[in-house]
Amino acid sequence: MDHVLTLVVAAAVLAYAFWPRCRKQCAATKPPFWKTLPPSLQLKQDENMIDITNTTLARISLPYKFLFTGFLLVIGVGLMMAGAQIMLTHGQADGKPGVSINDIVYSYYGNRSGSKLESMLNGAMKAMAPDDVRFKLIQWARDEAPEAEWKSDIEPLIQKHCVSCHNAEATIPDFTKLSNVKQVAAVDQGASISTLTRVSHIHLFGISFIFLFVGWIFGMSEFDFRWKVILIATPFAFLLIDVMSWWLTKYYPVFAWFTMIGGFGYSVASTVMIFTSLIQMWLPKHLWWPKWAERAEG
Ligand code: HEC
Repeated sequence: MDHVLTLVVAAAVLAYAFWPRCRKQCAATKPPFWKTLPPSLQLKQDENMIDITNTTLARISLPYKFLFTGFLLVIGVGLMMAGAQIMLTHGQADGKPGVSINDIVYSYYGNRSGSKLESMLNGAMKAMAPDDVRFKLIQWARDEAPEAEWKSDIEPLIQKHCVSCHNAEATIPDFTKLSNVKQVAAVDQGASISTLTRVSHIHLFGISFIFLFVGWIFGMSEFDFRWKVILIATPFAFLLIDVMSWWLTKYYPVFAWFTMIGGFGYSVASTVMIFTSLIQMWLPKHLWWPKWAERAEG
């Protein structure tokens, strides 16, 4: 319910900000706001601007078309894999398929109403043991995992149902050790600071290079100048919003919305850039989406 309310308020604010109030009259009387900015900040193509590429995607030679196409296709597949990976890992956090706000909250803030053991036994690990065993394990976790019951009651169940996968050879937690089981039986505090720092720096370094090259290639397309600037800048802004939102979500679950918006924002921006670049390299101009060609002329 909270989430629906947040969404409605956000939608209302956005609608108020962007609703076209008096498009025709205002255009006649008042310049649009970007024309009121100092010239250096106006997003306008100027004949004196020196472009670092000085060519367009349609005109570059075949070897470079192959180079860029190869890169963009691999990145496109990579982005889809990243999407699938999110579905399969974070998507499972609340035990239901598909990425929801709860998945993000559980991943970063944790599910503080229970332990990871409990949420996994009600989610992805549900099929691994019969109900009475699951209840017994959940009860033990809720009792704060008393060591006295480990040898007699809990270890035999874990040995029987879980250790075939959760053993010392596996990359998933090894449940032959009490300490590891205790860790997942403790109340779930979400991602740890060390996980967040690790994932954040890999994410920021790695993904900014992807967007550097995707943006660089797209920079050579023929596209409405203002939108080109916006599309190239968007992924970097959203990348920062995304990574910042993980940290904020760790402490305030409502920021999970920013994770959602950040991910959505740079998926859309990179999809538009990749498709535009591919189309302009390989298709004749009359097949481009008419708007692009029209606007690029002006
Ligand atoms: C068929 C193999 C298999 C069996 C059997 C199995 N698990 Fe898992 N378990 C996995 C895999 C794979 C993951 C990691 C993927 C994931 O997080 O969904 C995992 C993850 C977990 C996690 C989350 C660990 C973490 O820190 O992210 C918990 C808790 C868990 N299992 C509990 C259990 C319990 C309890 C049992 C026995 C009732 C069990 N599992 C049986 C394969 C198995």
